[in-house]
Amino acid sequence: MIKFWSYQREYKKYKINIISSIKKSLSKGNIFFGNELKTLEKSFVKKYKSKYGIAVGSGTDALLISLKALDIKKNDEIITAANTAIPTIAAIINSGAKPILVDIDEDYLIDCNKIEKVISPKTKAIIPVHLYGQACNMDKLTKIGRKYKIEIIEDCAQAQGAKFKNKFVGTFGKFGCFSFYPTKILGAYGDGGFILTNDFNYYKKIKRIRFYGIETVDKKNKFKDEYYSNENGLNSRLDEIQAGILNFKLKYVEKFIKRRIYLAKIYLKELQNTSLKLPYNRKFSKHVYHLFTVYHPRKNQIVNKLYKKKIQTRVIYPYPIHKMKAYKKLKFDRKKLLKSEIKSKGIFSLPLYPELKKSEVLKICKIVKEILEKV
Ligand SMILES: Cc1ncc(COP(=O)(O)O)c(C=O)c1O
Repeated sequence: MIKFWSYQREYKKYKINIISSIKKSLSKGNIFFGNELKTLEKSFVKKYKSKYGIAVGSGTDALLISLKALDIKKNDEIITAANTAIPTIAAIINSGAKPILVDIDEDYLIDCNKIEKVISPKTKAIIPVHLYGQACNMDKLTKIGRKYKIEIIEDCAQAQGAKFKNKFVGTFGKFGCFSFYPTKILGAYGDGGFILTNDFNYYKKIKRIRFYGIETVDKKNKFKDEYYSNENGLNSRLDEIQAGILNFKLKYVEKFIKRRIYLAKIYLKELQNTSLKLPYNRKFSKHVYHLFTVYHPRKNQIVNKLYKKKIQTRVIYPYPIHKMKAYKKLKFDRKKLLKSEIKSKGIFSLPLYPELKKSEVLKICKIVKEILEKV
């Protein structure tokens, strides 16, 4: 079976380094808030050319904490894409706000031309989602943000290292939110997330929210580093074991991305001239191919046949947000979200991760082409 993804190939390859980074973290005497965390925050900020960075417990928390930092309240509205991952919406709802869904464009990204129509006096932020590794049009989004004085929180969970006009995603908005979920571009061996910001006051605030509201930055604060809460926060710590593993892997992240792009190019070459709608690198952007997502109206047949040929695929995501029970009560107008529905019925992703072999990609392409001739 060619698995859609498994951490085990990576683990096999880097086992010595991963085990030694765990041992190193444990030998230092801190489970939380030690040197590994400090190093990770410093290196991540440097790599992605931002000013400040805060590691948190997950990508979902990164979004929730960013929303909390903006003092989002009940009845506020946050705009995002109808085809996003559930956690984008969970974060919005858990902040107290209402998600406002916008349909997607041909490339599965929020349709920037439809955003202004849903902006209201209650709109506080837009969360563009750089889905599958492809950057949203940040020119259009920042322009809308400035025009209506609403903040942009970038959901970069699937697009670490992607660029728009040569600038890294996560550095355009007020906050850039990342996920270290194991399947991601930079995956931990557990949960983890990260927030980038260029704003010192928000940096301080996010650090407080991450840790029960305790002040850890502002030297002038009377209660700095004391067990005293300045504002209601939560617990979203990234432990030293995960930070240590991430520090090791961060050194290789460019290599991982290059390998993804290399394998994606093989898929693109081999599958051109087939009836599949293939992903592509949009003008002005750098796609990091977190996923290799294709579209075909006869998706179910193809996916079933691939499975019989021992090739695992995934549908990311099979239901747009407004079609799920948890969110139906928000009464989204599905007539305005039709593209997300159509696309969700025909998309599927082929295996793509750095440890996948070129021979496996070629094999997958050969089988896909054989299947396509008969469906
Ligand atoms: C687009 C998107 N946003 C947010 C998240 C949430 O990240 P996490 O699983 O680390 O909470 C994910 C990951 O599943 C994601 O793909």
